[in-house]
Amino acid sequence: MTGFTVEFGKNGRRAESGDRLDAAAFHRNHQAIWAVLEKFLRGKTGDVVEAGSGTGQHVVFFARQTPGITWWPSDLNDNHLRSIAAWTAHEQLVNVRRPLRIDLSSPEWFTEASDGRGPGALLAVFCANVIHIAPWRVAEGLIAGAARYLRPDGRLFLYGPFRRDGRHTAPSNAAFDASLRDNDPEWGVRDVDEVVALAQRHGLRLTKIVDMPANNLILTFERHAG
Ligand SMILES: C[S@@+](CC[C@H](N)C(=O)[O-])C[C@H]1O[C@@H](n2cnc3c(N)ncnc32)[C@H](O)[C@@H]1O
Repeated sequence: MTGFTVEFGKNGRRAESGDRLDAAAFHRNHQAIWAVLEKFLRGKTGDVVEAGSGTGQHVVFFARQTPGITWWPSDLNDNHLRSIAAWTAHEQLVNVRRPLRIDLSSPEWFTEASDGRGPGALLAVFCANVIHIAPWRVAEGLIAGAARYLRPDGRLFLYGPFRRDGRHTAPSNAAFDASLRDNDPEWGVRDVDEVVALAQRHGLRLTKIVDMPANNLILTFERHAG
C-alpha cells in the first residue's frame, strides 16, 4: 500500500485476546496527551475525529473521560480498524462510533460512516504520530480535511516529534528521523514551520505548542478569525 506506515501487531505482540492490539508507546504517552487535550475537551459536547487511530487505545481512553463527546476513530489499515472496534467493544463505550476508513493521503477524505451517518461539524481532530511516518501528502490531506470539518470553535491537535527552526530538538529525534528516511525517503520528522505554513494555507492558525515528554510536541490549531 502506497505510503503505508507501521503496522501494530507485526512483532507478534498482542493484547489479551482477539483483535485488540497493544502499542507500547500508548502506555508511555496517553496520560500526558490527555492532560493537554482535557484543557479544551473537558465538559464540552460534540464530535471528535481521531485520524490514524492505530490500535484504538487512545480513543477509548479519551472517550472514557468525555461522556459528552462522540468519538470517531479512523484508520486505513484493516488490522487496526479491527483492533479499534475490538477495544471499543471491550470497553463497552457508547460514545465511540465504529471506526471510519479514512485515507488521509486523499485531501478529499470524508467522514461519512458506512451506514451513511457521520459526525457533524467537528469539535476537534486529534492525530498522534502519523505525519512523520507517512508521506507529506498525508499531512496535507489531514490538514485539508480538518480545515473542512472543524466547527468555528474547533481545534486540530497534532502530537509527535517535530523539528523546530529546521533543527531536531534532540539527538534521539535526529536518529529516529534518519531511520524513518532510510525506510522511506518520503517519511521524516516534520518541521513545525512547514506544518504551520501548510495549516495557514488552509485557514488554520497555530495557537499553542506544548512540550511533551520524550521530545515530542503537541501543536494546536484553530480557525483564523474572520
Ligand atoms: C505510528 S501509527 C500511530 C497510531 C496511533 N495514532 C498512536 O499514536 O498509537 C500511524 C498510524 O497511521 C495510520 N496511517 C498511515 N497512513 C495513513 C493514511 N494515509 N491514512 C490514514 N491512516 C494512515 C497507520 O495505519 C497507523 O495506524
